Amino acid sequence: MKTAIYPGSFDPVTNGHLDIIRRASTMFDKLIVVVLINPLKNYSFSIPERVALLTKVTEGMRNIEIASYDGLLADYFKQRADIDVIVKGLRATSDFEYEFQMAHTNKDLNPRAETVFIPASANTTFISSSMVKQVAMFGGDLSKYVPAVIHEEISVKLTGEFEEKRRAAAKKRGEI
Ligand code: PNS
Repeated sequence: MKTAIYPGSFDPVTNGHLDIIRRASTMFDKLIVVVLINPLKNYSFSIPERVALLTKVTEGMRNIEIASYDGLLADYFKQRADIDVIVKGLRATSDFEYEFQMAHTNKDLNPRAETVFIPASANTTFISSSMVKQVAMFGGDLSKYVPAVIHEEISVKLTGEFEEKRRAAAKKRGEI
């Protein structure tokens, strides 16, 4: 039995992530999708919210497990002897350098942690969580970028966050 792990921030999960999840789940007996933290990033969704969104969009997919971990991927990999390989999606050459660095760092920290890359499908290469967040904050149409079952949740959360930011900026400028 081969088990892969697909790590990411998933802030929020997009159709691009789902494309990789679907395709990786056909290549391995089991796929663990794990929400991790990049301490250098600011997140809009909490870890439980990101786990809940992932759980919703993968409902009915029988060989998927959703997990989260507050630590190094290499350490999570060490703790779970059932994991064979790390899967990452590559959208464009611009992803490559960063992903290559992470793959080498993970292997350096844990020599068992090999990474395989899956190229994003052509129709999802331009989709990113940060692009989705911008579209959502301005109330744009998300239908091509995130699964329909989570549109509403993403829109409500991000338009609210944006409104709060606008209000805070206006307050700082002394306008309100
Ligand atoms: O979706 P992202 O933001 O590109 O995912 C990056 C993520 C969260 C997978 C990466 O930052 C990560 O693995 N974070 C956990 C800490 C870690 O192990 N970092 C890699 C070694 S520098």
